[in-house]
Amino acid sequence: MGGNGCFMAKTTLWVCIGKHCKEDGSKKTRNTLRDLVQAQGLEDAIEVDTCNCLGKCGKGPVIRIEPGGERVKRISGKKCEAFLEAAQTGTLGRFRKQ
Ligand code: FES
Repeated sequence: MGGNGCFMAKTTLWVCIGKHCKEDGSKKTRNTLRDLVQAQGLEDAIEVDTCNCLGKCGKGPVIRIEPGGERVKRISGKKCEAFLEAAQTGTLGRFRKQ
């Protein structure tokens, strides 16, 4: 894949499914991200997995991006498409401020 190198190595999006993020809809976020990755043929570059509490409870769904370990907050199902695009193009800025 092309792009600016952001996703050159395999990236894992760890979606928190801890109690609070679950209440904030993180399972929908995980499912939506998985669907998008599949629909866009990004399986070789991006993996979507789940994890427990990322220490940002109340601001969920929270996602940790590896490598790097950056945590982004409030990625609801409807934001997934924009989030995935921003992650690929290195334009996550607006998601960092949430
Ligand atoms: S439950 Fe997701 S950050 Fe704590």
